[in-house]
Amino acid sequence: MKIFLDTGNLDELKKAAQWGIVDGVTTNPSLIAKEGKKIEDQIAAICEIIDGDISAEVVSTKAEDMIPEGRKLAKIHKNVVVKVPLTRDGIIACSTLSKEGIRLNVTLCFSAGQALLAAKAGAYIISPFVGRIDDMGGNGVDLIRQICTIYKNYNFKTQVLAASLRTPPHVIDCALAGAHIGTMPFKTLDMLFNHPLTDKGLEQFMKDWAKVFEPTK
Ligand code: E4P
Repeated sequence: MKIFLDTGNLDELKKAAQWGIVDGVTTNPSLIAKEGKKIEDQIAAICEIIDGDISAEVVSTKAEDMIPEGRKLAKIHKNVVVKVPLTRDGIIACSTLSKEGIRLNVTLCFSAGQALLAAKAGAYIISPFVGRIDDMGGNGVDLIRQICTIYKNYNFKTQVLAASLRTPPHVIDCALAGAHIGTMPFKTLDMLFNHPLTDKGLEQFMKDWAKVFEPTK
């Protein structure tokens, strides 16, 4: 599974980039607004840090406005993937822009039926929001499983990007369900490192080593 960071924050991206395990970045209007910079500048800066798919979302809601906005976003960098919402207008924009060779991430997906529509419209990525479904008492991982099955049944090339991942079990369960990509905040990625037995084991290794090779310390 590819790992994407869900952030617009350059410090987080630089820190995670050092680990060499980040394959791409997703942003949304809330995350870009949090950084207070123009979207063109922020996305260009992100593209300098991570060499992979970088999602940049339109803020128009009508197809006739989303289409030129999407074209403009796509021109920022070759790695930009244009994000549109899973609305009727978003699907028109997806169908139109995908025919022009622009790669689309269709976001705010909460059902397998919606995911089917995005694939039919030529989406490069579909983004089902696992955490937000769980917040409502649903099962976000089940949705990932359903979408992966439908896409496999009909050989759709659209990649399933499990979004809104809040915990390490979310990441593991989505990987088991067959998601192609998981996007998560820095905090979730950082939590994936942690295991008490790793810390305990390392401490013991260091102690045993020091007893023989550094006895004066
Ligand atoms: C995905 O692309 C979205 O930006 C994101 O995963 C939403 O996550 P949230 O539900 O934690 O805001």
